[in-house]
Amino acid sequence: MWKEPMILGLDVILGIETSCDETAAAVVEGGARILSNVVASQVDVHAKYGGVVPEIASRRHLENIVPVTREALDRAGLDLKGIDGIAVTCGPGLAGALLVGVCFAKALSLSTGIPLVGVNHLQGHVYANWLTGDPPAFPLICLVVSGGHTDLLLIEGHDRVKIIGRTRDDAAGEAFDKAARVMGLGYPGGPLIDRLAQKGRAGRVRLPRAYLEEGTYDFSFSGLKTAVVHAVERLGREKWGLEDLAAEFQEAVAEVLVHKTMAACQELGVQRVILAGGVAANSRLRTSMTEAGRRYGVCIAFPPPSLCTDNAAMIAAAGYYAFASGHKSGLDLTACADMPL
Ligand code: KG4
Ligand code: ZN
Repeated sequence: MWKEPMILGLDVILGIETSCDETAAAVVEGGARILSNVVASQVDVHAKYGGVVPEIASRRHLENIVPVTREALDRAGLDLKGIDGIAVTCGPGLAGALLVGVCFAKALSLSTGIPLVGVNHLQGHVYANWLTGDPPAFPLICLVVSGGHTDLLLIEGHDRVKIIGRTRDDAAGEAFDKAARVMGLGYPGGPLIDRLAQKGRAGRVRLPRAYLEEGTYDFSFSGLKTAVVHAVERLGREKWGLEDLAAEFQEAVAEVLVHKTMAACQELGVQRVILAGGVAANSRLRTSMTEAGRRYGVCIAFPPPSLCTDNAAMIAAAGYYAFASGHKSGLDLTACADMPL
């Protein structure tokens, strides 16, 4: 049963996140107030390989985890005595990368006696919406769009989450990264396409939208990547440029995401939508969803871009509510690379 964590004496949570290529630690009070939020990005290291190299990511996490956690405590003005609970991402993600965070958090918990809870990374993304000073009310629809996942969730309470749609092939973030690669833009693709698209116009070159069969909330983005490959082959022969292709690509992704999210709201009678995950930082998705919300009378909320991409404040917030629901992990906590939501 859900209990107010403050009553349980679990108010200040140290969050730890190492699921992919960011080593992150944060201190959050009351599941909502960020006391510190430190992210050591490895983007520069992986960019020259065109994607995340798991072995390098794990080694970097090992080097960074202690200084990053120290900095998070310092910036919060606390030492470990001021921490009531430790929340760590235990999946999904890269197995070796996750293990660094999980083993570190277990050692910290064992040596200090501070309670530990393992957190699902995607649940973390959802709880970034609790860090904005205006916590969302239930019921709500959450669109989770990250590098590895695209899920449409119906959330009726902290412990009542139902997946109503998901991608059948590529995740939205993966589509951005693949499209950027064939367009020769580099890695990670999402922010690069977003920036280039500001200079272009959607519609000059046409890309497909995959709505799939009537009535489904599932997504498909793999066809879009193939269409980008064919479009790039025509580049220079038609009256549009790479910036127009970036704008059209972004529009094609946003259009389908917005359409399905609004359809779910109408059919399920839900009037609140939150966005989560790295692609929720996308400027076109944010404005399209906001405009659609206005048209349909649906309240739209999303975290600031820095809380959409990977960070540990969201893990601390999710951990706060996990403790509140009575969850706690033992020293048998382990990393699960393909952990379901
Ligand atoms: O949630 P996230 O930081 O990590 C995962 O859990 O996967 O998401 C990373 C994904 C990458 O595919 C990246 O290209 C995408 O989010 N992304 C964006 C933007 N910023 C990050 N996609 C579109 N527009 C952006 N501004
Ligand atoms: Zn993520």
